Amino acid sequence: MRQSASRNLFTGVLAILLLGHALLAAAATREPVRARNGMVASASLHASEVGVQVLKNGGNAVDAAIATAFAMAVTWPTAGNIGGGGFLVYYGADGTSTTFDFREKAPLAATERMYLDADGNIPDNINHDSILAVGVPGTVAGLALAHERFGSLPWRKLVAPSVRLARDGIPISWLLHDSFKGRKSRWDRYPSSAKVFLKKDGSLYEPGDTWKQPDLAKTLRRIQKDGRDGFYKGKTAELIADFMANNGGIITLEDLARYEAIEREPIRGTYRGHEIVSMPPPSSGGVVLVEMLNILEGFDLASMGHNSAQYLHVLTEAMRRGYADRARYLGDPDFNEDMPLARLTSKEHAANLRNSISLTIKSESDPQQFADRYESPETTHFSVVDKDGNMVSLTYTLEWGYGSHIVVEGAGFLLNNEMGDFNAQPGITDERGRIGTAPNLIRPEKRMLSSMTPTIVAKDGVPLFATGSPGGKTIINTTMQTILNVIDHGLNIADAVDAGRMHHQWLPDRTIMEKTGFSPDTKHLYEALGHKVREVGGIGAAMAIYRDPETGILYGGADSRAGDGGSASY
Ligand code: DON
Repeated sequence: MRQSASRNLFTGVLAILLLGHALLAAAATREPVRARNGMVASASLHASEVGVQVLKNGGNAVDAAIATAFAMAVTWPTAGNIGGGGFLVYYGADGTSTTFDFREKAPLAATERMYLDADGNIPDNINHDSILAVGVPGTVAGLALAHERFGSLPWRKLVAPSVRLARDGIPISWLLHDSFKGRKSRWDRYPSSAKVFLKKDGSLYEPGDTWKQPDLAKTLRRIQKDGRDGFYKGKTAELIADFMANNGGIITLEDLARYEAIEREPIRGTYRGHEIVSMPPPSSGGVVLVEMLNILEGFDLASMGHNSAQYLHVLTEAMRRGYADRARYLGDPDFNEDMPLARLTSKEHAANLRNSISLTIKSESDPQQFADRYESPETTHFSVVDKDGNMVSLTYTLEWGYGSHIVVEGAGFLLNNEMGDFNAQPGITDERGRIGTAPNLIRPEKRMLSSMTPTIVAKDGVPLFATGSPGGKTIINTTMQTILNVIDHGLNIADAVDAGRMHHQWLPDRTIMEKTGFSPDTKHLYEALGHKVREVGGIGAAMAIYRDPETGILYGGADSRAGDGGSASY
C-alpha cells in the first residue's frame, strides 16, 4: 500500500515536474510573427514587404524570392546585390526540391598565383581588397534561371518594385547611416562609390533622409526589360567592362557573356526523422551541415541541455571534424570531379568520426593533417513561404559588407570581392586559419568555395522550415544551431534564431562565443574541457520561417541581431 502510495506520490511529483519541464520548454521568450497565407523573413523589412506584395498578387515563393532579392539590392546594399552571387534552395509543397547555384566565377584571366608577390605573400590584402578581388557576378543569371523553372508571374512585375525603390528612394535608417559612416574613407577611394553613398557635397546621408539611386534604377530597368541580357550583355555589360579596363580590373565582356547559373541536385541528409535539403558545392554548407548533424545524431543532445557546457563541447568536436573535411575535400564540383560527397554525408563516416570524440577531453586541430594534399564576415539570407507551403531559402552576398566597396561608374551597383574566398596561397594551411588545399585553388572560370547554407528541413516529404544566415564560415554553424534548437530543444522559430551561438572552424583552434549568449559559469566549464574561447558580438543573422504542417500556420523567425530586418506576412 504504502509503496504504492509512495509510488503514486512519486509518479505525481514526476508528472508535475515533467509538465513543468514541458511548459518550460514550450514557454517562448519571443513570440514569432504568425500568418496564414505567406511570409518573407529578411534582413530588410522594406524588401520583405515587397516579397509579400508579390505573394498577395498571386505570385509563388520563387516569384517573391526574386522580387525580394532585387529589392534588397536597393534597400540592403551591404549584402543585397546584383553585383555578387549566391544560392537558392527550393522545396515545393508537391515534394520537388532543387537548388540554383549563382556563385561568382573567376575571370578568364585569373591564375592560381595571381595575388602573390615574389616571396609568396599577398601584398595589401589584394585578394580581398582591390578591383582584382571581383568575381564575375552571378545573381541576375541565378534569379533568371529560377524564374524560368518555377516563376509564375511575369519577370517585369518582379523587378518593377526594385526599380521604383531605387528611383524614388528609401528613408535612411539609423543602421544604414552608421554603416555608411563607418566606411566613409572607402567611398572616398572611388568617385563612382562616393556618388552613390555620399551626398553631392561629400557629406553623409542622415537618418530620415531619402536616399535615391538613379543609376541603379536605370540598370534595374534594363534587367526588367531584357532579363539576364540586361546585365550580361548590352549597356550594363559595357559599363562593367569599361570600368574594369579603366581601373586595372580583369573582367571582360567575354567573362560576362559566358556566365551561366546552374541548377544542381541538393545535398540531402536526415536528422532524427527529418529530411535536410541544402546547398551542394561550390558551397561547402550542405555537406558540412549534414556531416555535423550525422555526428550529433549519436548523442542525446536534448538531455545535455540547451547550450550547456557538455552540449557545446560535443558541438565543437563535430564542428572541428566537419570543417576539417571542408578544407580537405571541397571546392567547385566542375573542377573537382572526385569529391567524395556521398561518403562525407554518410552515416558511416559520421559514426567513425563520432568514435573519435571524447566527452571529457578536447581534440586537437593539426594544420599538417592534409599537408600532403597539395599536388603541384557580409552576406544576407532570407526565407519565403507561400500560401501553398512552397518554400525558398536564399543566401547571397558581396562577400564583405559592401563587397569591394567599388560601384560601377554609371551603373550604380556594388561589385563583390568574392575572389577572396579562393585559397590564394597554395600549400599554406596554418594555425592562423589560412587554408591552402588543392580543391579551392584559383582557376579561370572556377567558382570559389562558399559557406553559404540556405537550407530547408522537411518531414514526410512536406517542407517544415527554411533557414540560413550570413556570417562567412560561421554560417554553417549558425544554420546547424538553429536546426538543433528546433529539433532537439523544442524552441519556437523566433527563439531558435535568437538563442546564443558559438562557432569553431577547425583552424584556428579556438571557439568564438557570443558574449551575451552564455553564462560565465558555462564558459568556465567549457574552458575546463580544454577549449580556448574568444568572446564576440553577434554571430550571423538567421532568417527562418516554420510552417505547422497540421494547421498551415506560418511562424516567422527574423533574427533580432538584424536591426533593419523583419518578417512581413499576410
Ligand atoms: O561565400 C561565403 O561563404 C562568404 N563569401 C560569405 C561572406 C559572409 O557571409 C560575410 N558576412 N558576414
